[in-house]
Amino acid sequence: MRKLIRKSVLKVNPYVPGKPIEETKRELGLKEVIKLASNENPLGASPKAVSAIKKALSGINRYPDAQGYYLKKSLANSLGLAAENFVLGNGSDELIDVVIKTLVEPNENILTSEGTFLEYEIIAQVNDRRVKKAPLYNFKYDLEAMLKLIDAKTKLVFIANPNNPTGTYLTKNKVAEFINALPPKVFVVFDEAYNAFIDVDDYPDALSLLKKNKRVIVLRTFSKAYGLAGLRLGYAIADAELAGYLERIRQPFNVNLLAQVAGCAALEDKAFLARTRRLILSGKDFFYREFSRLGINYVCSQANFILVDTGIDSRQVFKTMLRSGVIVREMSQYGLKNFVRVTIGTPNENKKLLSVLSKTIKGKKK
Ligand SMILES: Cc1ncc(COP(=O)(O)O)c(C=O)c1O
Repeated sequence: MRKLIRKSVLKVNPYVPGKPIEETKRELGLKEVIKLASNENPLGASPKAVSAIKKALSGINRYPDAQGYYLKKSLANSLGLAAENFVLGNGSDELIDVVIKTLVEPNENILTSEGTFLEYEIIAQVNDRRVKKAPLYNFKYDLEAMLKLIDAKTKLVFIANPNNPTGTYLTKNKVAEFINALPPKVFVVFDEAYNAFIDVDDYPDALSLLKKNKRVIVLRTFSKAYGLAGLRLGYAIADAELAGYLERIRQPFNVNLLAQVAGCAALEDKAFLARTRRLILSGKDFFYREFSRLGINYVCSQANFILVDTGIDSRQVFKTMLRSGVIVREMSQYGLKNFVRVTIGTPNENKKLLSVLSKTIKGKKK
């Protein structure tokens, strides 16, 4: 069989998702398990989205609107752009694939960073496209090092801002300088999966960047702040002509009917978004305070998760915490072998995580 499979598929190092709660309960015989591993919303989904889904349920015998007319219209209204600037995706993951397929020829390459969202590289590999990666600097994208890696064949750059798994962000000035220094045929994707949690003043306004520069693409998702990870809904924002080309690549019914109605309702649910944001920011304060008190090192985050330096092999930390019913994400696949990434949860989940984590690593640091 192996001989019949495309070579690029054989090379792929598949994405390892966060461990599901049910699987953990089953395997370890646990009654209570909390999952703080996949940066999901601990409050559940937007209630307005849930009631919109209930209303739409009886219509699922029909195919969804292939154009996503109402959702694009709602997005356009809420962000002050035109519906033609939006491409909907089955999660923003799908749009990473769509952008690569639309822009990058087989002999061209893609640039990103080490220590970032793994799907950029995995999806590029599946598409047989070469990826260049600059090392992180202080847990941040090193834009100067990235510029040095650009060659005549570089076509596309992926930047997660804020970055997953480090939570660090790039400032407005740094991003503007980077865009100005890009050769004319290079496109740049700003993946803003966590933009709803930003708590600084110098975060770039990606929408104004893309209005000025047709080679800027922004990715966003309903999976995090809106609590709709299970529905799979994300979107790309791009120049209208470019968006038209992206539309050619996606599957016709990539965004299901329930995701479309939920997305429209979630955009209206300002109260849920505000509640989520408050919970994350106060949870972040709690962790910062407690980590400092306990002498645990961490990286300051602009997202709904924190990268924690456990000082010991994170695979061991993950396994030990799992036995106590707490799922975190170990970071060896990201080249950060002593680190775990913890999602900020409800106050009770945060307390439980802190207690289990501190017991797990206490006295073990080398
Ligand atoms: C930086 C980043 N981009 C994209 C995604 C994918 O999100 P979606 O659920 O919309 O596919 C994630 C999910 O963890 C992420 O962290």
